[in-house]
Amino acid sequence: MKLFIFTILTISLLSSPSLAISPQKPYQQQSTKFIRTSCITTTYPTLCYSSLAKHAASIQTNRLILTNTALNVTLASAKYTSALMSTLSKNRRVAAREVAALRDCVEVVGDSVDELRRSISEMGRVGGPNFFEPTIMSDVQTWVSAALTDESTCIDGFEGTMNSEVKTIVRTHIVRLAHLTSNALAFINQLASLHA
Ligand SMILES: *[C@@H]1O[C@H](CO)[C@@H](O)[C@H](O)[C@H]1NC(C)=O
Repeated sequence: MKLFIFTILTISLLSSPSLAISPQKPYQQQSTKFIRTSCITTTYPTLCYSSLAKHAASIQTNRLILTNTALNVTLASAKYTSALMSTLSKNRRVAAREVAALRDCVEVVGDSVDELRRSISEMGRVGGPNFFEPTIMSDVQTWVSAALTDESTCIDGFEGTMNSEVKTIVRTHIVRLAHLTSNALAFINQLASLHA
């Protein structure tokens, strides 16, 4: 009987949401609030928050770190999406028309990876002796906008193809990538206008 009650108690404790989630330290609460508030200004706030909240400890309430983290998360997604499409394009069961679209996507998302890498490296100069030098921000705005254009090119490449599992998988990942890119661009534009 004792064991039974103990088990029930343990189960109810573990399933209680307020107890299952470890309490946040005050600075983390402040940071998650900062991330939530910042994300509201982007076009895809839910994705913005879910992709950045786990980095709260390093973001704290710093706009520059928030922007750089958003870029890093976007780059990781671009690399993953590119690798996924490359794998799919080599699958013998994928139709020829889709293989062609996938190969185009690997190329344009590869460009997008380069543009994001260049942006991250350039953003590393912000805060140094060239603190918010306008040319840095305008270069980064140009490259991240170009990355977004490349991603839409990939989406467009599938327009003429039939509905299929491959198309659904590609769309899901590329649309998520484009939304992450759009959110990162929103933060970059805000930084640029704050320091113009
Ligand atoms: C972003 O990634 C770069 C390169 O991996 C790293 O040096 C930098 O610390 C990261 N920035 C943030 C804010 O996480």
